[in-house]
Amino acid sequence: MNYQYLLVDIQEPIGILTINRPEVLNALSTEVMRELVTALDAWETDDRVGAIVLTGNDKAFAAGADLKEMRVKSFADVFLADFPEGQRGAWSRIAANRKPIIAAVAGYALGGGCELAMACDFIIAADNAKFGQPEITVGTMPGAGGTQRLTRLIGKSKAMEMCLTGRFMDATEAERTGLVSRVVALAGLMDEATKTAAKIASFSRPTVIMIKDAVSSADELPLSQGILAERHAFQSTFALEDQKEGMAAFLEKRKPVFKNR
Ligand code: CAA
Repeated sequence: MNYQYLLVDIQEPIGILTINRPEVLNALSTEVMRELVTALDAWETDDRVGAIVLTGNDKAFAAGADLKEMRVKSFADVFLADFPEGQRGAWSRIAANRKPIIAAVAGYALGGGCELAMACDFIIAADNAKFGQPEITVGTMPGAGGTQRLTRLIGKSKAMEMCLTGRFMDATEAERTGLVSRVVALAGLMDEATKTAAKIASFSRPTVIMIKDAVSSADELPLSQGILAERHAFQSTFALEDQKEGMAAFLEKRKPVFKNR
């Protein structure tokens, strides 16, 4: 498949997706989102890919949904098309992808760009990263999960302030508040993100999926149900050859060979 706005690179066992629309700071048009969903859907079932890195360029991960495209849309247009999610889903499909997706963010991650990064499983940020939900400054509001995911990640007070003022958060504050898992020097961002993805991809794939599902459900489930679901998933890993291999390898002081079985 040829993509106009994405660079697609499989370096087994990981896949690297680069949003490539630099002239508009990687603004997320409908077409960019369609390509992203297509590529991520394909990798969800591609055995060569055990984990994914989603990135942009040094100046922008993505500066939001495409304002030029949105400017002319009416209420009927956005409502009937269920924009920006789209009838077949975009952000929610990305969040639901079974493969872990790391957002490697340098530069601006604003509006839909911040929402896209938060729809990934975790964010590694470069020290020049800037996060924000500036929709209010252009007369609208976050529409792809910003009010919900940002609030869950950094708490009501900061999320409310960010959404109501449009203020940008720098990488240091983003790490301190838990929006990102780690901050690294810009020059080392892709190295760190790809190494992290490769590490995840080296583990037992069924177990990786169970862990991703369990952590993701923490936002949705009451604690007792989440703990129970976690315990049942933990118990089910004992049905895997990989659990036997992992524990045997530890006790035999060797590297495990996981077969994803
Ligand atoms: N959509 C379309 N084009 C955009 C864009 C966007 N979100 N962000 C930047 N661009 C374009 C600019 O129009 C400009 O194009 P021209 O060269 O043709 O004029 C080019 O990218 C470079 O941008 P700037 O000249 O503005 O660059 P800067 O370095 O001076 O400023 C910035 C950078 C602070 C990120 C600024 O571009 C900016 O504020 N962008 C808009 C951010 C924003 O409001 N995002 C939210 C969009 S709404 C949304 O996302 C809704 C949702 O929840 C789904």
